[in-house]
This record gives sequence, structure tokens and C-alpha cells, in this order.
Amino acid sequence: MDALDEAAIRLPGVQVRVLGRCGSTNSLLLAERVGAPVLLAAEAQTAGRGRRGRRWLSAPGRDLTFSLARRIARPARELAALSLVAGVAVTKALRALGVARAAIKWPNDVLAGEAKLGGILVETRLAGRASLAVIGVGINCRTDRERARRARRRVAFLEELLSPLPSRNLLIERIGLALLAALDAFEQRGFAALREEWLALHAHAGRRLRVRLADGRTLTGVAAGLDEEGGLQLETRGGLRAVRSGQILSARSA
Ligand code: BTN
Repeated sequence: MDALDEAAIRLPGVQVRVLGRCGSTNSLLLAERVGAPVLLAAEAQTAGRGRRGRRWLSAPGRDLTFSLARRIARPARELAALSLVAGVAVTKALRALGVARAAIKWPNDVLAGEAKLGGILVETRLAGRASLAVIGVGINCRTDRERARRARRRVAFLEELLSPLPSRNLLIERIGLALLAALDAFEQRGFAALREEWLALHAHAGRRLRVRLADGRTLTGVAAGLDEEGGLQLETRGGLRAVRSGQILSARSA
């Protein structure tokens, strides 16, 4: 497959770097002093990290693993919504590239149908008066039957959805541009700027969801949009509930 190439990833105002191998692109950028935005892509990660402390597995030279670090001037209490903002950007970019079935599973898994095509890990830390946001994106590109067999859920690969598969440099450039635009909008107007777009890309609107909450309990209800802060609203037997932290276990028609 095509090699990653810094010069082929054109993102105005962004320092683009490519590494052959690293532990985790998110971890490296989180530890840096970042001024202007930085995009770091790696051919291979030896300690790729997923959400909820999970590992993120990818095939060297065959998948997409990169992170974008950008300073954000918004109140710290609003930054949880960055996960959703990033989900909108990545999913929109994939649709524009031709992945018509790309959709978001709350808060920001990128699905094709019910199969996971990509994941996003957003991490933030204080950086002077602003915050530093590091947005890590992992997308399955080349079909890997063995990985699909070992995964505990259905997984999708870009090469099965896009023919011909664009170069990984182009994919990173397009997703990077969408992330930069979404972050600009978020910085100017907060999550309200992206909320409608998130709802339009939601994979499970109107579906009956079973969700495992942060305290281990499960909640069942019909997906009914997002609250102001990006919490998933469920119409339950006990009324409307918003889930701020949790994992969707299943989705059925209501
Ligand atoms: C998920 O659990 O769905 C999120 C996966 C995020 C993986 C990406 S790959 C690039 C960046 N570096 C990491 O260590 N993780 C993110």
C-alpha cells in the first residue's frame, strides 16, 4: 500500500509529521508543547489506545492511525462535546469521499451499517489559558479477515466500501481538513454549531438502545437526540433520560 508522506498531506497552517513507528500518536502529542496545530500520523503504533482504556489494534502500513493536536479556547466544562465534534468531522469526510453508509454510534464510533469502521479518542489537557485537544483517529483500511474474526464485534474495512481506495495521504488530508473546520466552528460557537449535523449522521435515531451506564447498570430506551452538552437522550419507561457516559450494548428497531 502507499507509504505515508508528509509532503502529500496538505493542511494549511498545520505542521504535518509522519513516523514509521511509535507507541501512540495521541500519547506523543499530549506530551508536547503545541503552538500551531500539529498532525502526527504513524505507519505503525505499538501501544495504540482506544476509548475506555482499551487497546487499539491496527496493521502496520495498512490502516490509518493519526492524531491532530490543536489549542482550543472554550471553557473546560464544554470540552466533553469535542468527542461528538470529532465524530461529525470524520464521518462527514468519509461520506464526502463516497462512504455513503458512514454513520455515528454515540458518542463517536464511526460505523458502516452496524460494523465499526473507525474509532476516535479525544484527550485534553490545560495549556496556559486555553486547552490542548488531541484528537486521535483510527480507521480500518485494508481488509484483515483474521482481525475481523478475533474482534468481539463486527468490523468494517474502507477497502470494502470505497473502490478504488484513495491513498492514505489523501484520506488523512480530507479528514484533517474536516476536523480543522469542525474545531473552528466549535471554538467560535460551541457544540451548538455541530449539533444538527451530529443528529443527521446518527446511526441509531429512533432505535431502541440498551446502554451500559458508567456505574455498571443498564438502561433501555428509544434514542431521542442529544441534550445541550451532547448527552444521549433516551425515551425510557420512566421518562426522558440523558446519558453522559456509557456504552451502547445493542440497537434494535423500536
Ligand atoms: C476507540 O476506542 O474507538 C478509539 C480508537 C482511537 C484510535 C486512534 S489511532 C491514533 C490515535 N492514537 C492512539 O493511541 N489512539 C488513537
